[in-house]
Amino acid sequence: MTRAISLHDVSKTYARGVRVVDRLSLDIAPGEFLVLLGPSGCGKSTVLRMIAGLEEITDGELLLDGAHANDLLPAERRMAMVFQNFALYPNMTTRGNIGFPLRVEDPQADHTARVDATARMLGIEDLLDRLPAQLSGGERQRVAMGRAISRRPTAFLMDEPLSNLDAKLRNHLRAEITRLTRELGVTTVYVTHDQSEAMSLGDRVAVLRGGVLQQVDTPRAVYALPRNVFVAAFIGTPRINLLRGLVRAPLDGAMTISLGKQYLRLPEPLCLDHQLLRVQQGREVIVGLRSEAVRIAKPSSARPGEVLLTGLVEHVEFQGHEVLVHFNTGSRPALVPDLEAPRPATRPVGRRRRDGTVLDRLRHRAGALRAGPVVVMDEPPEPGPPVAAPDGRLPGDLIVRTTPDIDLRHGMQVPLLVDLAHLFVFDQHGDRICPAPARLPDLEE
Ligand SMILES: Nc1ncnc2c1ncn2[C@@H]1O[C@H](COP(=O)(O)OP(=O)(O)O)[C@@H](O)[C@H]1O
Ligand SMILES: [Mg+2]
Repeated sequence: MTRAISLHDVSKTYARGVRVVDRLSLDIAPGEFLVLLGPSGCGKSTVLRMIAGLEEITDGELLLDGAHANDLLPAERRMAMVFQNFALYPNMTTRGNIGFPLRVEDPQADHTARVDATARMLGIEDLLDRLPAQLSGGERQRVAMGRAISRRPTAFLMDEPLSNLDAKLRNHLRAEITRLTRELGVTTVYVTHDQSEAMSLGDRVAVLRGGVLQQVDTPRAVYALPRNVFVAAFIGTPRINLLRGLVRAPLDGAMTISLGKQYLRLPEPLCLDHQLLRVQQGREVIVGLRSEAVRIAKPSSARPGEVLLTGLVEHVEFQGHEVLVHFNTGSRPALVPDLEAPRPATRPVGRRRRDGTVLDRLRHRAGALRAGPVVVMDEPPEPGPPVAAPDGRLPGDLIVRTTPDIDLRHGMQVPLLVDLAHLFVFDQHGDRICPAPARLPDLEE
């Protein structure tokens, strides 16, 4: 396979030994649209700037078209960058801005045809004589794109180019970016903290946490087969339900995963994935259930592979085309550091203080961020009843997606059928153990 951009064990260490990118390896194919996704501060911009040549690579190697490129000047890389704040030259018209890189390259030539073609591609022919101040935010971003593509760069590097725009415009430009990059066939690295943007744009999505690559896969695969709890929780809305479970595998009975007051009974004979859980006997695990893996239905209507839970309706979130029902099942949610707590009211205050600030900073300073847990498992069970949210609602531990025709109200006790074919189990470190990591389903392309 040819690779347009390759990173081999690339690290970035700032002064005083703070390592913000840690041995990142990534191969990006020619024409591929790769999204770098992760929470704020995880090192996305740093990676992009190292590819562009704006930031020195501390360790490791960057290859462009197969050739060592660590020391190439930014101009020699012929890449185009688009930033969030779409910096345009304020005293130049649209025509001037789009044509600027062409004039720098060849001041003598007539670039009118290329500028016109670029403007046509972006639907901004009518704006060619306006100054940036006379353009709306979306129009300015189009001009910035125009300036980036006019020179036909070897790659586009885009750093959250849409995050300053309103939702409608963002969606519109998203579609436009997809169309443009496909049309031009130019390799693109696109940085965002917005998972839905990543999923809709990327051929593949690379998920970063604390400077460490967690997974790189197609949008389908990161959703369906997240490598660990962090990826599972970062991708998908509503966020995947993460419950703390305990595996019980008695010699003479069915294997179960206890979820506090209730349990999931795994059907016999155990499927291959569930057999793997035997070694977790007596250990705490994290059960992951996406909101569509559970349905509200009578126990008598259970299909093969579905098991019963009971949920108390805490809160019903009407969304028009669907409804999100928050249930209390008596289980305890697992917490994922680096992401805000899934249910703020259930997050133990003491834990947050210890983990969120001092400890995190110490770890960071020690350059040991990568060693931080993907999931917090070691605090004792919450004593007493769950704490009410500021608005008086009790927090649920399980969110289920359903159709709007089911009439559910606070306080109702409802049967829930859990589809075990869509059950995720993660180990104490947050790594996925079920479905088995080694099993390559047909989803992975
Ligand atoms: N010049 C710098 N010196 C020290 N630390 C920096 C510098 N630039 C960025 N950082 C730190 O590097 C980390 C990653 O930053 P960045 O790549 O901008 O993250 P992202 O783009 O994912 O939000 C952050 O913790 C940030 O504070
Ligand atoms: Mg950034």
